[in-house]
Amino acid sequence: MTISSVLGFALSGIDAIPVRVEVQLASGLPSFLIVGLADKAVAEARERVRAALAAMGLALPAKRIVVNLAPANIVKEGSHFDLPIALALLTAMAVVPPEESGRYGAIGELSLDGRINPVPGVLPAALSAVDQSRGLICGAQQGAEARWAGETLDIVAADCLLALVNHLTGEQVLPSVELPARLPFDPAGGPDLADVRGMETARRALEVAAAGAHSLLMTGPPGAGKSMLAARLPSLLPDLTSAEILEISRIHSISGQLPMGLPIFRPPFRDPHHSTSQVALVGGGSRIRPGEVSLAHRGVLFLDELPEFSRPALEALRQPIETGTITVARASGHVTYPARFQLVAAMNPCRCGYLGDAAQECRKAPRCGEDYTARISGPMLDRMDMSVHVEPVSPAELAGLPTGESSAMVAERVAAARAIQSARQDGLTNAEASPDLFPIDAAARDYAVRAADRLRLSARGFTRLLRVARTIADLADETETAQPHVAEALSYRLRRPDRRM
Ligand SMILES: Nc1ncnc2c1ncn2[C@@H]1O[C@H](COP(=O)(O)OP(=O)(O)O)[C@@H](O)[C@H]1O
Ligand SMILES: [Mg+2]
Repeated sequence: MTISSVLGFALSGIDAIPVRVEVQLASGLPSFLIVGLADKAVAEARERVRAALAAMGLALPAKRIVVNLAPANIVKEGSHFDLPIALALLTAMAVVPPEESGRYGAIGELSLDGRINPVPGVLPAALSAVDQSRGLICGAQQGAEARWAGETLDIVAADCLLALVNHLTGEQVLPSVELPARLPFDPAGGPDLADVRGMETARRALEVAAAGAHSLLMTGPPGAGKSMLAARLPSLLPDLTSAEILEISRIHSISGQLPMGLPIFRPPFRDPHHSTSQVALVGGGSRIRPGEVSLAHRGVLFLDELPEFSRPALEALRQPIETGTITVARASGHVTYPARFQLVAAMNPCRCGYLGDAAQECRKAPRCGEDYTARISGPMLDRMDMSVHVEPVSPAELAGLPTGESSAMVAERVAAARAIQSARQDGLTNAEASPDLFPIDAAARDYAVRAADRLRLSARGFTRLLRVARTIADLADETETAQPHVAEALSYRLRRPDRRM
């Protein structure tokens, strides 16, 4: 009786948990069994492993083959167990020396002809391998992704099982995996604010939102430039720290979205369509995956045509907005993913989009506008720190206007304001910190209280007013919030006379 074992990984949240993949060859009727809380995709590994071995000219031993995935109490999902299973089997068959296969963790899916296919989760697996003081075996296309886990990690990235076996037996050495010397594109690239002509109010609102990490709602007719502005918000945000880059890249790796194995270097921008399901938005599903809210972690979540989103989808956003995490329920417990994003939403003022434009508005104005806004729940609107009306610039004006300030110039002011907040509030942005920490002069506080009373602001609305005012003061490098800062913050309050905001 022979037993061999190779390290594999089970993905849970954004972590890769080490799993021991044991193979036992025992005498008895020939069979091939996988046990240890494996899902269907893992069970199907049997057929892929059998075919991949056949492609190398190897038949399964005519024995009782039992594969055990330990510990048995955690769920193993996905096709990425193919590789550790094949490797443990080859070790038990004495094709691969045990001291070689024992030095690595393995993750990858096999095709029937023995090629190793890319799978989600290679970066978390590589980080976990580093923790276990092991190397990592993965598909050739994902070696670069694994490399970001550490420069000293021993990575074997093979394109097929045969090349892997030849490498492990010393017959043929695979090339080592290097960090790309130069990135194939500018990681800070993306649309630039310089493209936006005019629109001073909207540009200013975007800068304030970026500086304090405030949520922002933009209203305006179709073609006014709302989507254009939102897409430029990430270019105003400060660079990510290397810990943040790794954290975000793990999330994207688990969802199989790291193009060319390159980490996410800049705050991500996600703009799910309004027909997106609740599961796609917040995560979950039968093969549980992070949703858009997690893919937008430490970046921007842009909800265009906000009232068109389904109500359950919008309501599901309340937890991540409050806590910065999302917990997805599943049959065997819960999974929590990070989900701290800056929310930007856009909407037309009414269904046809032209409310307020006497020449184009429909016959139902202004009723249609109220009906349209009412589709979004009060608590949701209440969570928007700022609201701005985007006035369209006419084609004639557009031609005459000079191009605006570039993203880099605005980003410099944003970074300065963020640094002030971080020093004052122990790393928190104004959008997260309690207003008790904000120095404000007596007259400004008085003015804010009176305005809140007049506008019937809720306690939450009042807090948000003070936060936005504080960001405006930080942008002006003022120690105390003063009355003009509060006045500008008030101009970003959503006007809805029928509701307490
Ligand atoms: N102020 C502006 N400066 C430059 N281009 C503009 C401006 N406003 C609108 N545009 C052009 O109009 C297009 C439509 O804008 P878009 O952001 O899609 O509008 P919305 O999302 O409000 O419907 C933009 O992609 C851009 O080419
Ligand atoms: Mg748009």
